[in-house]
Amino acid sequence: MLRVGMLTSGGDCQSLNATMRGVAKTLYSSGKDVEIIGFIDGYKGLMYGDYKVMKPQDFSGILTEGGTILGTSRQPFKLMRTPDAEGRDKVEEMKKTYNRLKLDCLVVLGGNGSQKTSNLLSAEGLNVIGLPKTIDNDLWGTDMTFGFQSAVNIATNAIDCIHTTAASHGRVFIVEIMGHKVGWLTLHAGIAGGADIILLPEIPYDIKKIAKALDKRAKEGKRFSIIAVAEGAISKEDAALSKKEYKKKLAERPYPSVSYELGAQILETTGQEVRVTVPGHMQRGGEPCPYDRVLSSRLGATAGSMILKKEYGNLVCLKDGEIIGVPLSEIAGKLKSVDPDCSMIREAKAMGISFGD
Ligand code: F6P
Repeated sequence: MLRVGMLTSGGDCQSLNATMRGVAKTLYSSGKDVEIIGFIDGYKGLMYGDYKVMKPQDFSGILTEGGTILGTSRQPFKLMRTPDAEGRDKVEEMKKTYNRLKLDCLVVLGGNGSQKTSNLLSAEGLNVIGLPKTIDNDLWGTDMTFGFQSAVNIATNAIDCIHTTAASHGRVFIVEIMGHKVGWLTLHAGIAGGADIILLPEIPYDIKKIAKALDKRAKEGKRFSIIAVAEGAISKEDAALSKKEYKKKLAERPYPSVSYELGAQILETTGQEVRVTVPGHMQRGGEPCPYDRVLSSRLGATAGSMILKKEYGNLVCLKDGEIIGVPLSEIAGKLKSVDPDCSMIREAKAMGISFGD
């Protein structure tokens, strides 16, 4: 009997279910006697033995379903070695559950923080396979994470909707896009949605340059401008602050996010009327797009094959069109951010898109 544990960890995204389905279908199709244990709410389920024995039919009809059939939770990596409220060591508790259930392997669908924990568990002797989940596309080792393209569709749609109202009123619209500390989602949705200005965490902005770009458009007779702003975008002045000073500034900032601060600065500098739109968690919701369904099926199938071949300790990645395993120890703790000099940025700049730098 092959016993495989499975969990989804961290913020959810589209295509988690499609990925689990890919793993499960591959294992069940192998002809081996397989039992899949689904842990409830991510690592929490593994810590406290909250699980459900899955049946093949649990993985049927979920290819197009958003969210996760197992539930998820955030269990920060930095607190993994901090005892819980009852004084229990979380890592030891997870190992105990794994051993008690006599698992052959644990499959972790998660982003950066979650894969740091999977690497820790792998170093502690557990057989782990990671799958790259996140709308942020910031996992090192893979060209693409599942969830990203579906979120790009939603964020692009938000910008598309803003276009008509912006044009009617002749206003400046700021659309704030998720992505945590990286700008992949904003860069892709910004270009796909025809944003005039794109602000990313990787390219600190100068408000004077933004004002100049807005004035240029107004002088060209354009009645409106759209700015796609990453939630982690940062001004040049703030980027020059120490980590501690910046944290203090954020805590004292009288605005709920960078977009509102930027909106106030634009009004003050240019006199142009500004509106802010924050699509927020919508970007993680709904069904996975076809690209993600295909990617998830491929990643899931390869994860299943790797389990059957006992190729543990890997994150299953998309690299140059192929699905390959990359050691968890090589990817853990590394952020894949946008290179400010990459060709996509150069092409966008060549088209006249301002990055505020
Ligand atoms: O990592 C995915 C993500 O959606 C980020 O883009 C965003 O910063 C964060 O999660 C939001 O987290 P939460 O759902 O915990 O508010």
